[in-house]
Amino acid sequence: MSFRIQPAAPSRPNRCQLFGPGSRPAIFEKMAGSAADVINLDLEDSVAPTDKDSARENVVQAIGDIDWGTKTLSVRINGLDTPYWYRDVVDLLERASDRLDQIMIPKVGCAGDLYAVDALVSAIEAAKGRGKRLAFEVIIESAAGIAHVEEIASASPRLQAMSLGAADFAASMGMQTTGIGGTQEDYYMLHDGQKHWSDPWHWAQAAIVAACRTHGVLPVDGPFGDFSDDEGFRAQALRSATLGMVGKWAIHPKQVALANEVFTPSEAAVTEAREILAAMEEAKAKGEGATVYKGRLVDIASIKQADVIVRQAEMISNDG
Ligand code: COA
Ligand code: MG
Repeated sequence: MSFRIQPAAPSRPNRCQLFGPGSRPAIFEKMAGSAADVINLDLEDSVAPTDKDSARENVVQAIGDIDWGTKTLSVRINGLDTPYWYRDVVDLLERASDRLDQIMIPKVGCAGDLYAVDALVSAIEAAKGRGKRLAFEVIIESAAGIAHVEEIASASPRLQAMSLGAADFAASMGMQTTGIGGTQEDYYMLHDGQKHWSDPWHWAQAAIVAACRTHGVLPVDGPFGDFSDDEGFRAQALRSATLGMVGKWAIHPKQVALANEVFTPSEAAVTEAREILAAMEEAKAKGEGATVYKGRLVDIASIKQADVIVRQAEMISNDG
């Protein structure tokens, strides 16, 4: 094993990130009153080009005017390939209240993208004497993004979270689908004439989780477009949680409870994890490195696995 210790990801709940267009200020209060851990006010693709200026203005005002409670408050800025992004950053830092915790940078393709935004943010923070350091989150949603995912994960000390953006990712990869996440009808194996569906997002998710865990960043699953399909959302979220992701976006308020349920370790899972830890304590006292729990092997690695679940549950309950 490498002698380097794997860095811990930020210790804050990120089970659900609720999005809303910056051009729709009537829903901001509802977003603030939701049960989402993170709020993402959007200036990017849910805002039409003609509304960019007014949406930015709405968001700058709402950051200070609305009581966002203890939520992580994030604004998705426009991509670095647009004429809008620099004004997003400048206005958010110069004119919005410092209640703003984080900005989300979409469509990142290389470490240099974060370096560029970091340079601008650092200069404005210094010029304005902003006491609170702005955090970053990014979306991996292009071929370049996934090809350079590890250098992106290590590109800035401000980086706290990384999401997979299924729709733009599919487009950039040339995937034959218009679905936003979830099961894809044509992605199946045939066995004895029976179709078995596979998960086309799996490898990108696993690459994101590995890059994030290497560099102490929270890996997050992005949007699930069909908000009428609760079971489809749940199935996608359960797969993401199993792979190590800590949360998922909601693009409609009804998805918030679904995400919170999946990404909060269940009581049964926490009880089992605590029992495994207790069984290993007993084994250690007897000088043994492995023992049997409910008919299966548990050993020193099991302590680390159980710890992941117990620590996640404690962090969420401590946060209230
Ligand atoms: N956050 C909080 N509340 C929301 C909301 C959101 N993102 N979207 C809708 N609501 C509210 C509505 O105002 C409505 O409230 P009411 O019962 O008090 O009238 C209620 O939730 C039900 O809304 P509904 O009529 O089902 O949806 P809609 O047609 O108003 O909006 C969407 C549907 C998808 C257009 C909207 O949810 C949306 O814009 N989502 C976010 C899109 C986005 O940000 N995309 C970028 C990231 S991919
Ligand atoms: Mg996108």
